[in-house]
Amino acid sequence: MNDVKILNKAVFACPLIVANFGQANEDLNLNLCKDIKTEMLTEAYVERSGVNAWQSQSGMETKYDSFSLLRDQLEKVLFSQLKNFGFADEDVMRENSIISDLWANVIENSAGFHMPHTHSGGKNFFTGAYYPANIWGQKTVTDFEKLPNLKYGGADDGDLILFDEMKTLKTINIPESKELINKHGFYGADICVTPKESVLVAFPCYKQHMVIPRKDPRVSISFSLHWK
Ligand SMILES: [Fe+2]
Repeated sequence: MNDVKILNKAVFACPLIVANFGQANEDLNLNLCKDIKTEMLTEAYVERSGVNAWQSQSGMETKYDSFSLLRDQLEKVLFSQLKNFGFADEDVMRENSIISDLWANVIENSAGFHMPHTHSGGKNFFTGAYYPANIWGQKTVTDFEKLPNLKYGGADDGDLILFDEMKTLKTINIPESKELINKHGFYGADICVTPKESVLVAFPCYKQHMVIPRKDPRVSISFSLHWK
């Protein structure tokens, strides 16, 4: 093997950023949930991807300090991490791009879910979900240190599912290899993430995703990162 020159590079890959803000966000998470409850009382509701789900209006960061604080945190992480995916410094600075349009999503029972959708539109280029609680309406014990597992297929209840839009094309050539398709990246596997308090999951705005039902109520906060 001494004479063999090798170049390994993940091509046609999709950026995915998972960040855990940990116990430091515990108070912020409580405030976010409190403010979402307040907003739900206003009965302002926007039809989006949710079925049997409540979704707030956009721009929660202009109305609540908790959301504004979260926006600044999300921006800091994304601005630093997107440079690992080839974004130039000038692409990811407040002068040229900004996170805004934060909105909240609450599913209160097992009949709720989110249909497959994207957050494309306007000048959006990145998006994601932040989880202020493990279970909506309850403070549960959590291991703040642990990052969630990224699973290739094998979704658990309430998971966020990120689809590989090329799955159909990829599986035309390997119709028999279900194991390869379902268990490995690059062969059309869907990525499944179980929500966890203080965790951010961020991905390009074009990435199709959905949320599957679960018994326990679920809360998340979505956002858009867009060019100015
Ligand atoms: Fe979404």
